[in-house]
Amino acid sequence: MEENRYLTFALGKGRLAKKTLELFEQIGITCEEMKDKDTRKLIFVNEDLKLKFFLAKGPDVPTYVEYGAADIGIVGKDTILEEGRNIYEVLDLGFGKCKMCICGPESARELLKHHEQIRVATKYPHIAKDYFYNKKHQTVEIIKLNGSIELAPIVGLSEVICDIVETGTTLKENGLTVLEEVCPLSARVVVNQVSMKMEHERINKLIRDLKTVIEKEE
Ligand code: PRP
Repeated sequence: MEENRYLTFALGKGRLAKKTLELFEQIGITCEEMKDKDTRKLIFVNEDLKLKFFLAKGPDVPTYVEYGAADIGIVGKDTILEEGRNIYEVLDLGFGKCKMCICGPESARELLKHHEQIRVATKYPHIAKDYFYNKKHQTVEIIKLNGSIELAPIVGLSEVICDIVETGTTLKENGLTVLEEVCPLSARVVVNQVSMKMEHERINKLIRDLKTVIEKEE
């Protein structure tokens, strides 16, 4: 193993990154540079620990990890499922908990039950396709959207949506409800397959340390 090799982390931008850095602090991994909210820097270094961190759009994190541009990624399970990259998922961090659900107005429940050919709007076409085609054996039309998915059934674009539900507030405020649950979600640690072999000591130590903190918090 090279003495001076940096381990590189790709963090999904936003809430997840903030939580991740808080967790890393608890195991002695800090990155002061990253705390400056006004910085336009894209990559941050901890010279002492030989670590690098960068922030990326969530769906790009598995891509950086698969190609080895990052050794380790922190990303939501939803993104891992949707992107389908060749990476190892090694740890559930236990935060960012939410659920992937099929939602819509109460009136759409019957359509789902009777396997009607319906339209499903979603930011997650692969997850939706897998759920309806492989698990439910139901033919549906999937419509890809990029955000504010709850709008779709309200304005008549689709009968239901396949989307993330956290508190349920967005659904409630828009007269929608959870009709079926697809799977639970949370933040996960993913690792490049080659890095896992080449850097197994450092990576396994990191996983062990993170596990200890998570178990204490449970
Ligand atoms: C997510 C998700 C729901 C909402 C669920 O959207 O797509 O719209 O959060 O949260 P709740 O159950 O606590 O109301 P996000 O805020 O990520 O924005 P988006 O509409 O751009 O997907």
